[in-house]
Amino acid sequence: MMSIRSLAGACLSALAALGAFAVPASAQTYPTRTITMIVPFAAGGPTDVISRIVTAHMAQTLGQSIVIENVVGAGGTTATTRAARAANDGYTLITGHMGTHAASVPLYPKLAYHPEKDFEPVALLAGTPILILARKDFPPKDLKEFVAYVKANAEKVNAAHAGIGSVSHASCELLNSILDVKPVGVPFNGTGPAMNALVAGQVDYMCDQIVNAVPQIKAGTIKAYAVATPERNPSLPEVPTTTEAGLPAFQAQAWNAVFAPKGTSPAIVATLNAAAINALDDDNVRKRLLDLGSVIPAPANRTPEALAMLVKNEIAKWTPVLKPAS
Ligand code: MLT
Repeated sequence: MMSIRSLAGACLSALAALGAFAVPASAQTYPTRTITMIVPFAAGGPTDVISRIVTAHMAQTLGQSIVIENVVGAGGTTATTRAARAANDGYTLITGHMGTHAASVPLYPKLAYHPEKDFEPVALLAGTPILILARKDFPPKDLKEFVAYVKANAEKVNAAHAGIGSVSHASCELLNSILDVKPVGVPFNGTGPAMNALVAGQVDYMCDQIVNAVPQIKAGTIKAYAVATPERNPSLPEVPTTTEAGLPAFQAQAWNAVFAPKGTSPAIVATLNAAAINALDDDNVRKRLLDLGSVIPAPANRTPEALAMLVKNEIAKWTPVLKPAS
């Protein structure tokens, strides 16, 4: 009479012989060449900075270089469409975010991809609280004066953003709807160039991710009225929350995450996820992200499944906010 153990062993050998458990050879040796990480916005912006900090460490873990390719246009949807159509071999990835993988869905009726159907979620990299920023010589001294000024000068003031559907566009759409104002929107290929314009006084205000604002706020080259999260951010202890500053309705936090094209093998996704987690546990990576005000994901939020849930929830959250009233 065959023991249970030997029966199980026989079954496993049979299944293995049938290839049921076989991991594709490519996944077993992945990666064997340079990986491309598409960043959907201009160099120097928050998504670019977060990508470069994390992928530099991922490359060490993976033993292959990761080349950042900045592909701009259409609020990040040009790059995201390209990534959705890329080969699902693990060698073309994208750092998407709350804009490309959530806010764009209600804003682009003919969006050429769907964040949930056309991508494999790989790993959440960083949460990025949103700040209300202005050029240094913008007249309002604080958020209360900002609200009054923008309402009184709605036709004259302008707001910079990184294109329709970007984080800076979507979050300021929320702010502007709360204030019931429609400022002139000034689009850029990313909030890196938009920040340069703000510092130069060429635009009035912007809703931007904290990692792009911290260096300028500390240098005193722009104004920060508030951070749109329940708590102040440790990197900017002097910047009040929107609640403290009298606008509790404006709460906004974005996030940046790695995605692979749909159909990328689970083994490759797992390899990339492990490398991303390894980076988020590295002291130097953590220090650089935290110094820029990032929120480093808790371990439970670092799995591909948690990212898939985040994307689903964020699409559900931003669609009623951004979809034009039909
Ligand atoms: C950037 O990196 O430029 C930003 O993520 C763009 C945006 O979504 O505001």
